[in-house]
Amino acid sequence: MAQVQCPNGHLYEQVTHSACPSCPAPEQAASFSGSDAQTVLPAQAASGLRASGDSTLTVTDNRTAQTYTLPLQDGNIRALDLRRIKVHPDDFGMVSYDPAYLNTAACKSSITFIDGDKGILRYRGYAIEDLAEKCNFLEVAYLLLLGELPTEAESKEWEYKIQHHTMLHENAKKFMDGFHHNAHPMGMLVSTIAALSTFYPKARHVTDPDERMLNVLRLIAKMPTMAAYAYRHSRGFPYVYPDNSLSYTQNFMNMLWQMTEPNYVVNPSLARALDVLFILHADHEQNCGTTVMRCVGSAQADPFLTMAAAAAALAGPLHGGANEEVIKMLDEIGSVDHIPAYIRRVKAGELKLMGFGHRVYKSYDPRASIIKKAADEVFAVTGSNRRLDIALELERIALQDDYFMRRNLYPNVDFYSGIMYQALGFAPEMFTVLFAIPRTVGWLAQWQEMLEDPEQKIARPRQVYTGPELRKLASHP
Ligand code: CMC
Repeated sequence: MAQVQCPNGHLYEQVTHSACPSCPAPEQAASFSGSDAQTVLPAQAASGLRASGDSTLTVTDNRTAQTYTLPLQDGNIRALDLRRIKVHPDDFGMVSYDPAYLNTAACKSSITFIDGDKGILRYRGYAIEDLAEKCNFLEVAYLLLLGELPTEAESKEWEYKIQHHTMLHENAKKFMDGFHHNAHPMGMLVSTIAALSTFYPKARHVTDPDERMLNVLRLIAKMPTMAAYAYRHSRGFPYVYPDNSLSYTQNFMNMLWQMTEPNYVVNPSLARALDVLFILHADHEQNCGTTVMRCVGSAQADPFLTMAAAAAALAGPLHGGANEEVIKMLDEIGSVDHIPAYIRRVKAGELKLMGFGHRVYKSYDPRASIIKKAADEVFAVTGSNRRLDIALELERIALQDDYFMRRNLYPNVDFYSGIMYQALGFAPEMFTVLFAIPRTVGWLAQWQEMLEDPEQKIARPRQVYTGPELRKLASHP
């Protein structure tokens, strides 16, 4: 182990890249200052970071009294520039420590914009409210993947292409038959997405744009088929083949629910409601599943294996499962009279109000507002719903309560989506599957963007090693 002297004159034994233990820790000591500040971004203000007028940031390391000028790009520093900050010339240099990526941008993206403080969500610059009102899901898929909304002719061609990839290979169907009778539909879906990799070996040519687009079409087209087969398998019902004369959502509903009747008719209002739900869930920038998609995709795994990994992340209860929890919570509350007592338990820290709060949105989640409005049309068809009455009253009471107001806790997308899914006839174990179908588009758009970005490489974060120093292994029994 090397003995080194820090710039403040302390002698110390240096473990790999370690700083002087006698000097203050970097988080206490490093001060960041800017000059001629024009913009103070909220996150930067909180940490003392300020963007300077000349697009640089001046950092003084109090351990060494050394000053560094770091360039700013789009108002941010490059983490790699921190490596210039060293106590000793042989040091590795500083890294930024950010468990759970709370404040790390790992990519530049032009797909989805979120302003969590203002409750704004936009795809390719279009407000989510406009898209939900004026477009169908496949048009929004085109927008997310190709950057612009399709013309009428492009839209027809796009829909035609997707409709002609909806069939699953019969062997993939047999593969699904092998699952246990009570297998969870999400587990079946994730495994079958991965299994498709074995049916399309050319998919590994991820640098070929034509091959990529073919597999994008396959995945968007086959997700409803796999999802419906997973559901039918869990119920012990025979599979229903895709019907390409129907719209994307109508075909999905037909594959789920057609029984003995030769012509099952999907209610168009309900199909439209599902279409809107699909639009709202299509992308949400760098969430957990999408980060997995970019990370696995950066190793150039094929899109089927890559997307199976993203869907696996979505299956986690902290990510895609909250809508199911909301239904359980509303059932536990049972009636409007029990709400005040339930809120008291939440405020006492006994419970969380499921479907409330969000890591990014600190005002109303715009998706929740749209779902709430769309719910009226669904309930006009299906009849009123006890759960909706409880949810509306719960929201009304919570939004007037100081506990929720002070913490900026508002309903998120999951607060009303579960109620809607159930009213549309979906079983709770299908809720995460219903999230995965439209999110396929966002995953694939982000995957394509990552592959085409010359700044991207295989994802490989750093660590702060906290284990033992080198130990001698004298003898081992
Ligand atoms: N009910 C009651 N209190 C809450 C809730 C809630 N749903 N959410 C946060 N709080 C409190 C929390 O206890 C903390 O209070 P205090 O300051 O007294 O310690 C404060 O609000 C801040 O919470 P946080 O945990 O620091 O917030 P976060 O940004 O880390 O967590 C969240 C965000 C979504 C995980 C959390 O709000 C939550 O668990 N909500 C319920 C689950 C849910 O609805 N999840 C769906 C998210 S939207 C879909 C998706 O993104 O996949």
